[in-house]
Amino acid sequence: MDATAPVTVTITGAGGQIGYALLFRIAAGDMLGSDQPVRLRLLEIPQGMRAAEGAALELQDCAFPLLRDVEVTDDAAVAFAGADRALLVGSRPRAAGMERSDLLAANAGIFAPQGAAIAANAAADVRVLTVGNPANTNALIAAAAADGVPADRFSALTRLDHDRAVGQLAAALGVGPAQLQGVTIWGNHSATQFPDVAHATVDGAPVPVALAEKLGADAVAAWLDDVFIPRVARRGAEIIEVRGSSSVASAANAAIAHVRDEALGTTGSRWTSAALVSQGQYGVPEGLVCSFPVTSDGSGYRVVEGLALDDRARTRLDTSVAELVAERDAVRELGAI
Ligand code: NAD
Ligand code: LMR
Repeated sequence: MDATAPVTVTITGAGGQIGYALLFRIAAGDMLGSDQPVRLRLLEIPQGMRAAEGAALELQDCAFPLLRDVEVTDDAAVAFAGADRALLVGSRPRAAGMERSDLLAANAGIFAPQGAAIAANAAADVRVLTVGNPANTNALIAAAAADGVPADRFSALTRLDHDRAVGQLAAALGVGPAQLQGVTIWGNHSATQFPDVAHATVDGAPVPVALAEKLGADAVAAWLDDVFIPRVARRGAEIIEVRGSSSVASAANAAIAHVRDEALGTTGSRWTSAALVSQGQYGVPEGLVCSFPVTSDGSGYRVVEGLALDDRARTRLDTSVAELVAERDAVRELGAI
């Protein structure tokens, strides 16, 4: 018997692909630390219950020392009861012939009730990460429905985009990912996102200078505009095309890294990227869930402020923010927020 109280983690869509890639790593201690016991609450819809129940059987068969108990349910009130952390993964995928507004409406029907169930049942200091797409706007809907829960408890996943950007940059420069710092994803988790290396460093030296040495000074702008940014921003589509289905293990890895850094803290001056409810930073309208550079001291993510954005960067951020505004306005029209 250890003295550390277990943390209750609720995972929605736990019977799905990302759920299956998440559960075992959370139970093994990868997300909250190797000395932090966890209780898992798996929420599914009736069609997904058998898959989630099967995963629960396998969790038992792993005999993880940190795993206190697992509950599988299709009742949101039960799933979120006492939740310290919630990972909202389950969402409605786009089906053939579905309009964007249909997709937003279907997801509003999921994320608004889940936000309300979090407010009514979760722990007072609950923190909620939205993974299910469209992740930023789903987080906005959940936060709006979670009466009484401060908006800064909600975030959406852009860590996968961040890690994709680091991976692409590391390959281009011929360095290891750990040698890179200061990469930022701005905006929406969509093809309009802006992966930004202007403030990034490699072993402490500016990345733009390292790229100029590698590619030639004249080639850097074209490489960023025509290769790096589109490759990162459309990596989700590339994975779908090559694998035949959307990213799973990398998405789960990013969700674990997002929560781990939020809960245990980002190291030193290193920042990461996460979509947070804007308080107006960098001119992003208040209330939008937008990706920023962020750090955490273990008490929650905060936006890194004061970075300079040149005209090209500003235009790219504004384009992605305009898409977030359009999504917010569409869910407003539906009465979802
Ligand atoms: P999946 O279809 O394998 O699993 C989704 C699961 O959610 C299913 O088991 C389904 O039954 C369940 N579900 C649906 N509605 C639910 C509800 N109301 N309550 C509880 N569970 C519900 O999909 P997946 O591959 O696991 O992906 C999940 C989501 O994550 C998708 O929306 C995907 O687009 C998104 N995604 C986001 C990122 C990101 O970086 N933000 C990356 C990859 C995937
Ligand atoms: C991803 O980034 O891999 C996912 O959000 C899948 C997608 O639809 O792009």
